[in-house]
Amino acid sequence: MKRSDRLIWTGLAAGGLYWLLRYFGPRHSPLVLDGEVVMVTGASSGIGRAMAFAFARRGARLVLVARTVEQLEAVRREVEPYTTAVLVIPTDLTDPQQMEHAVELAIATFGRIDILVNNAGLSVAGYLQDQDPDAVRRLIDVDLWAPVRLTQLVLPSMLEARHGTIVNVGSAGFSRVPAPLFTSFVAAKAGLASFTDALRREMDGTGVHALLVLPGWTHTDLLTPEVEDYLERQGYRIEHPDEVAERTLLGLLRGEQEIVMGGAMEKLAVLVERYAPGLMRLYWRLRLTPEWIAALSQVGSRDETSA
Ligand SMILES: NC(=O)c1ccc[n+]([C@@H]2O[C@H](COP(=O)([O-])OP(=O)(O)OC[C@H]3O[C@@H](n4cnc5c(N)ncnc54)[C@H](OP(=O)(O)O)[C@@H]3O)[C@@H](O)[C@H]2O)c1
Repeated sequence: MKRSDRLIWTGLAAGGLYWLLRYFGPRHSPLVLDGEVVMVTGASSGIGRAMAFAFARRGARLVLVARTVEQLEAVRREVEPYTTAVLVIPTDLTDPQQMEHAVELAIATFGRIDILVNNAGLSVAGYLQDQDPDAVRRLIDVDLWAPVRLTQLVLPSMLEARHGTIVNVGSAGFSRVPAPLFTSFVAAKAGLASFTDALRREMDGTGVHALLVLPGWTHTDLLTPEVEDYLERQGYRIEHPDEVAERTLLGLLRGEQEIVMGGAMEKLAVLVERYAPGLMRLYWRLRLTPEWIAALSQVGSRDETSA
């Protein structure tokens, strides 16, 4: 056999083996986190609640952060059978003092934070000129400023221990794709993605890692059933929060840097945006129909849509 043929066959065999390993590899992460301390923001509902479950089932000790005490306590009751310790810290992430208090209390209680999951987020949709400026400010505070500040607060102890991971939850449709009608959300989520990338480079060799998780459209309070129906009719896949949580744990196990979830539409959009942004401009010109604008303008956190 010629040398070039041998190279081709070796390449194909290696590709096939890689595909088989990915295809038959574990769908549920076997990660064991015995005693690791995981702080999850936005743990009172949706993806944060699912993350709390996934980490608890792997033996992690949990710090649950959000504003709504009753919902946090409900999550505590649900996860308690799986873990040795759960600390609930009601926190408004728009308040810097409350953020400092949360981190101090967690470290005072458990001695450390091993994994910080910056998941809390809210969304405001519609034309920017129609958006409530206070809601936009809250969005930037919760979706971007809080993850940056919480990371600052946990880094000293992680660096001292030479061990730790920052998990930032962005969005497959918005972190790497500047989608209209979500300008401030895109600003926050793209900022969070760049923050994660820069942090990873800054922390290189320190033992501190950064993982960016980009969920697709997910079945949580952020979406009404009507919006979910509409998106499904447009070819989008709606994920379950447990899928996002399990995929995140698998990413941690594999040491991944970025996880792009969602269906083919989101994955294709990220690629086209990177390599042919002109095509995306054309796509959005055709996509922004009155029907799309009416449906997608309803996406938003309950607090903000009812404001
Ligand atoms: N659902 C989707 O389609 C989707 C897609 C891509 C990315 N994401 C991202 O996934 C993350 C979780 O969203 P979700 O879909 O699970 O929505 P969700 O069910 O509405 O959860 C949002 C969480 O953020 C918390 N939160 C909001 N404002 C807060 C504040 N000021 N202080 C503290 N906590 C606050 C909420 O808790 P309290 O109200 O109790 O404070 C809640 O636990 C967000 O970052 C979102 O952008 C969602």
